[in-house]
Amino acid sequence: MSARGHAFGIDIGGSGVKGAVVDLATGELVHERIKITTPHPSTPDAVADAVAKLVAEADWPGPVGITLPSVVLEGVARTAANIDKAWIGTDARALFSAALGGRPVTVLNDADAAGLAEDRYGAAKNYDGLVLLLTFGTGIGSALLYNGTLVPNSELGHLEIGGMETEHRAAASIKDRDGLSYEQWATEVSTVLIGLENLFWPKVFVAGGGISRDSDQWIPLLTNRTPVVPAHLRNTAGIVGAAMAIDAGIVP
Ligand code: BGC
Repeated sequence: MSARGHAFGIDIGGSGVKGAVVDLATGELVHERIKITTPHPSTPDAVADAVAKLVAEADWPGPVGITLPSVVLEGVARTAANIDKAWIGTDARALFSAALGGRPVTVLNDADAAGLAEDRYGAAKNYDGLVLLLTFGTGIGSALLYNGTLVPNSELGHLEIGGMETEHRAAASIKDRDGLSYEQWATEVSTVLIGLENLFWPKVFVAGGGISRDSDQWIPLLTNRTPVVPAHLRNTAGIVGAAMAIDAGIVP
């Protein structure tokens, strides 16, 4: 953390590379987030160029936290969802650090970053014990936190529940693809949440992803027992969580 309690976070998604300086006392962005369209194809080198451009535009000289829609171990991407498959096996930390003049970088999964942010500043800030965040988007991302400590790379979107991978059953993209009503989609989400709560017994589920903006249309329809609260940070959670990760020295 800088003397002023600020850190820089970047969230890499299928459509945009977004970043900003974060005030770690409040979890708020210090300026409007900077967004660069994700290059296509989203190869490691092309995305690293976009990251370097973004950090230069922000005129940020220090360490940087960066998310990827991937399992990340010791800085190396092990999977690639919605980005170029060339990421698999790439040492993302070394690549980004080199693109940023050798400065310290940490890289973590996108949903893990959102979980860190919601747990400290957002929807789960008043819950202790186990918090399980799910992001409903093209796939389903997950973050498991116990008293604020992240259990990284949980990948529960790929857990089979009722004979189907959860993200194939209940991602927001499935609702769109199959033209499901909120009632129909909520039935699938409930199946997923019941399966997860019977395995993990979290205190609360945090529902993130774009569809959490319409949470009043579907959270009341859910039939599982654990409380489900909509994410608060919306499109800044990844940036804020990435900034928290570099500040706290989290290396998944
Ligand atoms: C990936 C996760 C990612 C999630 C959201 C899933 O398909 O496996 O790593 O967090 O999508 O982007």
